[in-house]
Amino acid sequence: MPSRAIEFTVYPDQCDAWGHLNQAAFLQFFERARWELLARGPGMEMFRAAGVWPAVRRATIDYLAQALPGDVLRFTQETSAIGRTSFTMKQTAVRTGDGVTVATAELLFVCVDPSGKPTPVPETVRSFLSTSSDRSARLTVNGASIALEDRGSGRAILFVHGYPLGRDLWRHQVQHLDGWRRIAPDLRGMGESSLPEGEPSIRAYADDLIGVLDLLGVKRAVVCGLSMGGYIAFDVVRRYRPRVAGLILITTRAEADSEEARQGRDQSAARAAASGAEAIADAMLPRLFAPESLIRIPGTVAEVRAGILATPVPGIRSALVALRDRPDSRPLLETLGGIPTLVVAGAADTITPPQEMRAMANAIPGAEFVVVEGAGHLPPLERPDVTTDTIARFLRKLP
Ligand code: MLT
Repeated sequence: MPSRAIEFTVYPDQCDAWGHLNQAAFLQFFERARWELLARGPGMEMFRAAGVWPAVRRATIDYLAQALPGDVLRFTQETSAIGRTSFTMKQTAVRTGDGVTVATAELLFVCVDPSGKPTPVPETVRSFLSTSSDRSARLTVNGASIALEDRGSGRAILFVHGYPLGRDLWRHQVQHLDGWRRIAPDLRGMGESSLPEGEPSIRAYADDLIGVLDLLGVKRAVVCGLSMGGYIAFDVVRRYRPRVAGLILITTRAEADSEEARQGRDQSAARAAASGAEAIADAMLPRLFAPESLIRIPGTVAEVRAGILATPVPGIRSALVALRDRPDSRPLLETLGGIPTLVVAGAADTITPPQEMRAMANAIPGAEFVVVEGAGHLPPLERPDVTTDTIARFLRKLP
């Protein structure tokens, strides 16, 4: 089942006399989010074909914070239990502006036949629902509520997304790298993770990742970072080397920002404060994708744009500070011998061009270097099959 979040804007006609989203409208939103999720997958046809209907037996909603007209709410859902004739879904509504959870719902469904008699959950429905759990989880780490995908079992690979993105960047790899435990968190302040108080830094992101691994009981993982995710991966190696079983560096660089780039970060932060995430999306999108991707995969481009728009401005601004102040990781490169490393460039990437990536790979003892044709800065989304295969091949070779 698609685990992607679904968003709705609160309209004034859904609000009560005090201007808050009405409790009945909440219920409707939860229902619409479930319909939308099904529509993105097999649709109601899945139930019809099996001759059953999911009837709501019990609904429990916890209203935790207010939602006002104009607020955008992000709904996520997972299956928390499947019985013989029933299943339970948990839903969460988060205010995208500040990452606050405004309500949670738990619904118990019973599958009934056309006469209304409870009937076993059909196999097709059961398998759809059980993949929905995906172990999409939320963990509290260093004061941040971190949303993540945790799929599969075996040795672990930790995916670290770039700026200003979220874990959805890795959706193809998380879906397909069977035989591995795929862990993909949203960094603090980005995607669906909250932004706690504190100085923004690459170190803070890295500490959160280690906190996630600790809570999941993972001692060692292959760390796979894209761009800012690569900067963070370098910090993980620098301070938590024994936790790193391998390194995959995609469209990233080891150098710190130049003075000019640092000023650019401050300008971007000011633009985000003045004009919101839209200004960031407008500036970044043409740089993130190869020109041919902008034409070939407009749906993916639109999804990335929607993801950037949904990123709370404080999360964007704090990432910009962390990017601006990140350390120079070049001295680390020659010390990476002993850590199997794969470096992946996008042939049409202008942010971290392939020739720079090649030079970085050459500075890492034993590193393998691959250029993904037809991709810009985001090979995992622009050329998902090639990128997943490249990663899978590297993983297979690990001792
Ligand atoms: C990213 O994709 O994470 C950013 O392009 C990193 C950067 O701006 O340095």
